[in-house]
Amino acid sequence: MSSPSRRPLIAGNWKMHLNLAESVNLAKAIKDGSGAAPAEVVLCPPFTALTVVGEILKGSVVRLGAQDVCWEAQGAFTGEISAPQLGDCGCRYVIIGHSERRRLFGEADWQVQKKIKAALGVGLAPIMCVGETLDEREEQKTYRVLQTQLEGGLKEFAPAQLAQLVIAYEPVWAIGTGKTATPDQAQQSHLFIRKTVARLYSPQLAAGLRLLYGGSVKAENVDALMARPDIDGALVGGDSLKQASFLRIIHFKAPSEVG
Ligand code: 13P
Repeated sequence: MSSPSRRPLIAGNWKMHLNLAESVNLAKAIKDGSGAAPAEVVLCPPFTALTVVGEILKGSVVRLGAQDVCWEAQGAFTGEISAPQLGDCGCRYVIIGHSERRRLFGEADWQVQKKIKAALGVGLAPIMCVGETLDEREEQKTYRVLQTQLEGGLKEFAPAQLAQLVIAYEPVWAIGTGKTATPDQAQQSHLFIRKTVARLYSPQLAAGLRLLYGGSVKAENVDALMARPDIDGALVGGDSLKQASFLRIIHFKAPSEVG
């Protein structure tokens, strides 16, 4: 189990799925089913559904998050959405540097850094994504890739500024493939990330940092992942769209409860 000082966090990344009616239905179901969940729960719908989902979640313990953010606060940036605008919609979290943004839209570490800065500037908690491709893993470059992403994305912050930071380890080869990292593989990478943050910033920041695992998290594998000491939660894609699966995931069971 993760340290009691770190509250588990399970976030659903809906990616580019669901229309407004479907978003409302799913958000209602998750809100209604989230009572007594051991984790803090975050839903990250597409930008178009933030307002309607935010209305549903108002007054509940389920938080709203966005999937990306622009580093500028306002201005002539066609197609972009700013951190103050996300805050205005009721967002508390924002996913930054997802591998789909890095890989398909050319997002680089320096952009990730600027986005994290913009989010923190308005009190939004960044969920910064890092992770290696299959080639990189096979070439034994996992730690090198993670280190580069962490150093680049977290450049030039004071430790106190990063208190709200969440990091999601999402190995690219496990995303949407049904191929989950084993709990051992995920734990090893998480430990490396925590040690790297301790070295770059401070052991205190690293000790309190919530590290999520993402990549084919399902009802069937969440308990084993959450049992590892450095896995503090999950960033769930496909199965966050399935009501029953996601409800089971947010109600993950500690090792002593697994029968
Ligand atoms: P899947 O859970 O569909 O593998 O997606 C993971 C992910 O990318 C979450 O951000």
